[in-house]
Amino acid sequence: MERLDKILAGGGLGSRKEIKQLLRTGGVLVDGQEVRDPSLHIDPAAAQITVFGKPFHYQKYIYLMMNKPDGVVSATEDNRFPTVVDLLDEEARRFAPFPVGRLDRDTEGFLLLTNDGQTAHRLLSPRKHVPKTYLAQLAQDAQSSYIAAFEQGVTLEDGYRTLPAQLALDENNPRQIRLTIYEGKFHQVKRMFEAVGNRVCYLKRIRFGSVPLDDTLAPGEYRPLSAEECEKLGIEETI
Ligand code: URA
Repeated sequence: MERLDKILAGGGLGSRKEIKQLLRTGGVLVDGQEVRDPSLHIDPAAAQITVFGKPFHYQKYIYLMMNKPDGVVSATEDNRFPTVVDLLDEEARRFAPFPVGRLDRDTEGFLLLTNDGQTAHRLLSPRKHVPKTYLAQLAQDAQSSYIAAFEQGVTLEDGYRTLPAQLALDENNPRQIRLTIYEGKFHQVKRMFEAVGNRVCYLKRIRFGSVPLDDTLAPGEYRPLSAEECEKLGIEETI
């Protein structure tokens, strides 16, 4: 059971203060009854709520796919640089979403934002081995020997041995590769290429779990995950 004002505010209908005013107008019906008390406790999944005659669909969680642009940090706050949350509109921000994991400031591509802590925790768990695929441009031509090296795991400069990762070369562009990793160590892709004597000049995440980045999203744009994409990421409950 949750307070009616919290439910309506969570659904993007305004601040708690604005909801109080809305309720005073008598425009909100719960199961056909006019309700003016913001503190009324109801079951949001079961109650039929209408606002000025229109059905109100309760939404507790938000799941957004963003094509993160260069220059923006994957955080909710930062003293120096804009954050991915700064790119969200007011309606999305009301849900207080945060990024699921991090991409470097200069990395672009698929970043999931949600306010569902449990899902975030599960997707980030090192034991779950959620695959992440990156497209990278390298400073020097990729060598076919990297494929076996990454499959076996490479030793990073701090002594950490990476899990097996799959590298795909691009036959039309020897400096472009795709790499799928199953963990998320700090600067992992960049450090893996340093371990084999190369350097990443450009990095973009193009797939998270089994969901590809929507290539119609320009850098900085975002949209809610579809029901099918939620399912692919094991997200069942969206209310
Ligand atoms: N690996 C990196 O080096 N940087 C990222 O942002 C993501 C993966």
